[in-house]
Amino acid sequence: MKKVVALMGSPRGSKNTNAALDLVIDNMDKDENMIKKIYLGNLTINPCTGCDYCGHKEGCVQKDDMKELYEDFDSADIIILAAPLYFNSFNGLTKNIIDRCQKYWSLKYSHGQNYMRNKGRRGICICVGGAPFAFDQFIGINPISDYFFKSLNVEQVGNYFISNTDKVPVESNVLVNEELKTIGKKFDNLDNFHIQR
Ligand SMILES: Cc1cc2nc3c(=O)[nH]c(=O)nc-3n(C[C@H](O)[C@H](O)[C@H](O)COP(=O)(O)O)c2cc1C
Repeated sequence: MKKVVALMGSPRGSKNTNAALDLVIDNMDKDENMIKKIYLGNLTINPCTGCDYCGHKEGCVQKDDMKELYEDFDSADIIILAAPLYFNSFNGLTKNIIDRCQKYWSLKYSHGQNYMRNKGRRGICICVGGAPFAFDQFIGINPISDYFFKSLNVEQVGNYFISNTDKVPVESNVLVNEELKTIGKKFDNLDNFHIQR
């Protein structure tokens, strides 16, 4: 049984990010995957203060809901990061937890630890943007999601980006529905992908 940690990063609990994430996780094989969906908006997670505690000691000095999320990251086989595009980047709620992954960077590069290397962990990023399709709309997401997954030693298998969600909601976008369902069904056998619809 694999553990899937599915992060729902929109503060709007039942809109496009949520719909896109559900299309993937609802179609994953439940006999093979134990799925934990986490609404980031329900957690109390402080911003990283850059105190450098994690650079000197192992772990994060802050005592908040990130503790459970760290445990989920440590035990995950698959991580799915789903978030909305705000100001051409991840929204703050999502970026906040990404910044708190500095703990993992420090573990590896300040403390020389071998965190989850070669464990075959895999992940994908889903991002929705309300504006109409533009070729560079999600360009800010690529390096951040890359760095997030690298910090966790998770191989990022793909990015799935959806434009125009303010006009065409995910739930009524037929192509997006089909493709996200397929990603969920075939998660174990996905070739690397980078899709923007
Ligand atoms: C503060 C804010 C900033 C936004 N910035 C962008 C943006 O830069 N590009 C874009 O395509 N959409 C932008 N949007 C629109 C959202 O991406 C869009 O409404 C999306 O569907 C939100 O995800 P949700 O429906 O899951 O909440 C922004 C929305 C908000 C509230």
